[in-house]
Amino acid sequence: MAVLPIATVGHPELKWVAKEVTREQLALPETQAFIDDLIETMRHANGAGLAATQVLRHQRICAVEVDNNPRYPYKPRVPLTILVNPVLTPLDDDMFENMEGCLSVPGIRGQVARHTRLHLTAWDREGNPIDKDILGLTACTFQHEVDHLDGLLFLDKVIDSGTLTTWDSFNLFHHDAFVERAKALIAKHGS
Ligand code: NI
Repeated sequence: MAVLPIATVGHPELKWVAKEVTREQLALPETQAFIDDLIETMRHANGAGLAATQVLRHQRICAVEVDNNPRYPYKPRVPLTILVNPVLTPLDDDMFENMEGCLSVPGIRGQVARHTRLHLTAWDREGNPIDKDILGLTACTFQHEVDHLDGLLFLDKVIDSGTLTTWDSFNLFHHDAFVERAKALIAKHGS
């Protein structure tokens, strides 16, 4: 396994739309080894998720895992989840203004409107179907990762550039109010 370099904002390939993965491609030992590297890279960087696009592999594969994450200590636990060809469909119009960060946007957070109730279909790394609803703050995390596969960073979705903040300023000026809102969302949805 290997820790891969993560591309940062300004890298043109972060705007590429990743390609669907075929069952044959997914079964290749090389693809499975890549998924191991994606997980190792995500964990090494303390990411809550990582998309293949961020390590410049343009296939629709991403990872999500949250377990006492030091970057996002308020996020509910999400067991390691590999999504292949994920499709997210909003279940309603309920939105949450999430303060997001990204390993490809070092040092900056900003506010993005995310759906709070989604239906997810995907394959796992073995090609087994995933078909379930994703709710609450976890829904925001999944949308962020799938956006990467469509060539989008959270910066592309920040509606008010006045919400952009360094992590230091976030902790000083915005943390408490945001975490209060996030905890209310988590309490409402259980995730
Ligand atoms: Ni990201």
